[in-house]
Amino acid sequence: MDDFHIRQGEWYCEQVPVSRLAKTYGTPLYVYSQNTILSHFFKIMHAFAAANPLICYSVKANSNLSILRLLAAQGAGLDIVSQGELIRGLEAGVTPERIVYAGVGKTETEIAAALRAGILMFNVESEPEARLLNQVAQRLRKTARVALRINPDVDAKTHQYITTGKKESKFGLSIPLAMGLFRAIRRMRHLKAVGVHMHIGSQITSSTPYIQAIQRLRKVVEDLRRAGFDIAYFNLGGGLGIIYNEERPQTADAFAQAVLPLITPLQCRLILEPGRFIVGNAGILITQVQYVKRGHVKSFAVVDAGMNDLIRPSLYNAYHQIVPVQGRPGRNTVLTDVVGPICESGDFLGHDRHLPKLNSGDLLAVRSAGAYGMAMASNYNSRVRAAEVMVSGARVRLIRRRETYADLLAPEKEAALK
Ligand SMILES: Cc1ncc(COP(=O)(O)O)c(C=O)c1O
Repeated sequence: MDDFHIRQGEWYCEQVPVSRLAKTYGTPLYVYSQNTILSHFFKIMHAFAAANPLICYSVKANSNLSILRLLAAQGAGLDIVSQGELIRGLEAGVTPERIVYAGVGKTETEIAAALRAGILMFNVESEPEARLLNQVAQRLRKTARVALRINPDVDAKTHQYITTGKKESKFGLSIPLAMGLFRAIRRMRHLKAVGVHMHIGSQITSSTPYIQAIQRLRKVVEDLRRAGFDIAYFNLGGGLGIIYNEERPQTADAFAQAVLPLITPLQCRLILEPGRFIVGNAGILITQVQYVKRGHVKSFAVVDAGMNDLIRPSLYNAYHQIVPVQGRPGRNTVLTDVVGPICESGDFLGHDRHLPKLNSGDLLAVRSAGAYGMAMASNYNSRVRAAEVMVSGARVRLIRRRETYADLLAPEKEAALK
């Protein structure tokens, strides 16, 4: 599953003791295993090899340039949702013809930037977006390749905040609306409809909702072809679930075996947009215990990472395993809430954990924090964002330095000078 393991009572990332990283780079600190990132990427590549898919890593999961470069070097494309993600992708050397652009709120400026860059296609989510895209493409004398994001109205059986394929969701178009927009696109001279796109949610642990959705989209592709559209791409989106605690998600192989027989007969180029599956289990967040408050019913370990560093527990009540970085697990555990320093009761990393008796200075590792961890970090409470390091075997690279207080104040100080 990943390259984090215990050796003689001490957690390691690949061949490097995690405590050494904390000592060198300080805490809170995101630590990634390069080998884990690559092995998850290859798992998807191999599972779908028969279909020769374009794997567009979903930048939003973790947008660090070094991670993008690493995946680009293996031939990955990108799934982006903003101009910032486009800039990151280009900076990391990703070929524009491997970039697909989704999102319900693309602005005119963002559309123009992506057109100028020459991306593979836009995953269009509404009629007004298609009209704006057509206008901008006309102005720039370009033709935009377009897939319509279709909302197949299936329940992905995941957290309501990350389910995206039900009819009440803001994403994509219902099948009838999509069919109407495909017809309208025929009259938009600067758009070329080339594909269908779906993304039904995130942290999905079973193939069933995918199968339901694909069956609906297959019919759409067949109807479009009968109507004379040259549909060359089928984009399945992302959403593959991972193990945070006791989940039993389908493997990439099982997933491929379930969905490929449905898609291959269409003879479309398959696009996948995995994010969490590639980086989720490849990262941990190391934090240091500042204080231990012993209460009447439980203890509170107040640590130096907060909801600004990892918001998933506060936002979705998401579960992350929390383990002491050093020390053999004893029999005597204390019921502990691991909480951050932020002034919100919702600022916690884990509730009611059975942890050994902790002391100030102890290090904890919050596991499976590689996806939607650093990418969602903020400066709330005027806290500077954590550093990130990448481990490969015995080698360690700082891939994002810790922010400084000068970074924190710079935009306001610069504004005051104008
Ligand atoms: C359009 C799209 N594609 C791909 C993804 C990646 O999802 P995941 O990280 O669950 O694979 C997302 C995530 O929200 C998304 O919105």
